[in-house]
Amino acid sequence: MEQGALGERRQPAVFITGAGGEVGHGLISSFSDEGRPDIVATDLRELDHKSREKCAATYLADVCDRDALDRILSMYQVKEMFHLAAVLSTRAEFAPEIAHQVNVNGTVNILQIAAEQGRMYGEPVKVVFPSSIAAYGFGSLSQKKEVGAVSEYVHCKPSTMYGCNKLYCEHLGRYYAHSYRQLATDSVQGKDKNRGVVDFRCVRYPGLISAETVPTGGTSDFVPEMIHAAARGEKYKCFVREDTRIPFMTMPEAIDATLQLAAAPREELTQIVYNISSFSPSAGEVATIVKQYFPSADISFEPDERRQAIVDSWPESLDCNAATNDWGFTPKYTLEQAFEEYLIPRITKQYESKA
Ligand code: SER
Repeated sequence: MEQGALGERRQPAVFITGAGGEVGHGLISSFSDEGRPDIVATDLRELDHKSREKCAATYLADVCDRDALDRILSMYQVKEMFHLAAVLSTRAEFAPEIAHQVNVNGTVNILQIAAEQGRMYGEPVKVVFPSSIAAYGFGSLSQKKEVGAVSEYVHCKPSTMYGCNKLYCEHLGRYYAHSYRQLATDSVQGKDKNRGVVDFRCVRYPGLISAETVPTGGTSDFVPEMIHAAARGEKYKCFVREDTRIPFMTMPEAIDATLQLAAAPREELTQIVYNISSFSPSAGEVATIVKQYFPSADISFEPDERRQAIVDSWPESLDCNAATNDWGFTPKYTLEQAFEEYLIPRITKQYESKA
């Protein structure tokens, strides 16, 4: 155990921001299943009871409030951070400056703290950061269809504030990892104390589908919303066209992949940013499979032109070869298997127990 400035013992911990969101929920469950007793989680809102019970400590804190983050982190010895706090793509278009503050300034706070702590420990602090398919941007639907699967460093011209923020934060992560304070006195004289103090790793998530939670504020939400509405016996008006296609994966796959990247040996990572995804169904294909399991599902397609334009600017599928080659990423499910082996058994149980 290491000591803080006043000589007190600092408890080792893994630190999670935005822990109350869908990914946070899945990550905390996964850590807890692995028997990790050292989870320190923060969010703007209180976490649900089940998640709280799995954590060593939880705090109400805004990622934009640097003092609050410093106060919390001064109590712990944190060498690994999962920075999940973000304002998603749909919500961000109603309040872009607030989204910028949370998505960018919050990330700078985390990176700066990681750099300071890394210097203090004399070893890198790992920052694991979820980016998104929103980092891409096509000029037209025909271009999107023509291009098909995209690798990480092409067609990155996002049309949303969220996408711009995520893309920029990927670059910031690279900067803190490789070039931080490159001209500062302590960098140019003798040993470079700033280089390598942050070990930044980033996954670009596709749309995510959880059996346990329903997303809010995103633009890929039409698939999870459609499935959960059917399971609850509610009508669903899908806000995109039937032929709309973007990549998706289930939440457990996303969590496993994130943890796999976090655990990968640094020297095997050739990139800062990695695409991951499992399947790329159209909204209509998802509706068809939903109706196989819930024959009375009432799904209609009533596209909202502006949200449709956002989804049309995102790729229809992702080239995940770099993740496969560098750290062994493999999707677990096809769309059909995701329904059969994960979504249907879990969702049915969940809504039965709530009935
Ligand atoms: N799920 C995100 C959103 O819709 C995209 O990664 O904003």
